[in-house]
Amino acid sequence: MQNIVLLEDVYKIYTMGEVNVMALNGVTLTIKKGEFVAIMGASGSGKSTMMNILGCLDTPSRGKFFLEDVEVSRFSKNELAEIRNTKLGFVFQNFNLLSRTTVLENVELPLIYSKKASKKDIERIYQIMRILGLEGLEKHYPNQLSGGQQQRVAIVRAIINNPTLLLADEPTGNLDSATSAEVMKVFQDLNHDMGITIVLVTHETDIARYTRRVVVLKDGKVLSDTPSQSSATPAVQTPREIAS
Ligand SMILES: Nc1ncnc2c1ncn2[C@@H]1O[C@H](COP(=O)(O)OP(=O)(O)OP(=O)(O)O)[C@@H](O)[C@H]1O
Ligand SMILES: [Mg+2]
Repeated sequence: MQNIVLLEDVYKIYTMGEVNVMALNGVTLTIKKGEFVAIMGASGSGKSTMMNILGCLDTPSRGKFFLEDVEVSRFSKNELAEIRNTKLGFVFQNFNLLSRTTVLENVELPLIYSKKASKKDIERIYQIMRILGLEGLEKHYPNQLSGGQQQRVAIVRAIINNPTLLLADEPTGNLDSATSAEVMKVFQDLNHDMGITIVLVTHETDIARYTRRVVVLKDGKVLSDTPSQSSATPAVQTPREIAS
C-alpha cells in the first residue's frame, strides 16, 4: 500500500544557549494510507516535536521526511505552507476555533485559503456536519457549543480539504471521558468509513485503544510499535455517503 509518511533516521536538536536538547534521536517510521496511529510516550519524549515535523511546521535537523514519496524535509517555508494548506488537516487540544466567527465560517476557512468555497463545497460542509451530529449549528458561535461539539467542528474544518493526512495532538485533552469517547468514535469513523489516514497523540491508553497501531516514543526514539489493544466498540455512525 502507498506510503503516506516516511521518516528516515530523523533527528531534531534544539539549541538552548550552551545546551543541545535531542528531542528526536533517530526516528524511522512508515505510515501507510488508511492507517490510524496513536503516538504515546512520557512528557518530553518527543511527541509534539514529531507532530510538528509531520505537520510541516518544523523540519528535521538531520534525516529525511517524505510525504507521499515527496521529500519535504528540505522544502522552503512557503513550500511547507502550501503543503499544510493542501495536504494536511490539524486538530488541537484547545480546538483553535475563531471565537467571533460562526461555525460555518470557521469550517470554510481552509477552503478559502486554497480557493473560494463553492456552492458544492458548502453543501459538502452541511453534509459532513449532519453526519457528525452538528446539524443546525452552522450559524452558532463556538462559545455557544459544548466542548465535544467544538472539537467536532474543528474536525470538520480539518477534513474539509480532503487532507492526505489528519494530525491531532491530544485532541481529547480538554474533554471529559464521555465526550472523549464520542470524539474518538468520530475519528474512528473518518478512518474506517472515509479511509482518512490519522496520526493522533495521546497520553491515555483508553484513547489509544480507538486507534489501530500504537507507537511509543522514549527519549526521542521509537520504544515500541505495536497493533493497538482495541477493545473499544466499533464505529456507530456510518457516514458512507460523503461526496468529495
Ligand atoms: N522549541 C523548543 N526549544 C527547546 N527545547 C524544546 C523545544 N520544544 C521541545 N523541546 C524539548 O524537546 C523535548 C521533546 O519535547 P516535546 O514537546 O516534543 O515532548 P512531548 O512528548 O510532546 O511532551 P508533552 O507530553 O509534555 O507534550 C523536551 O525535552 C522539550 O523540553
Ligand atoms: Mg506535546
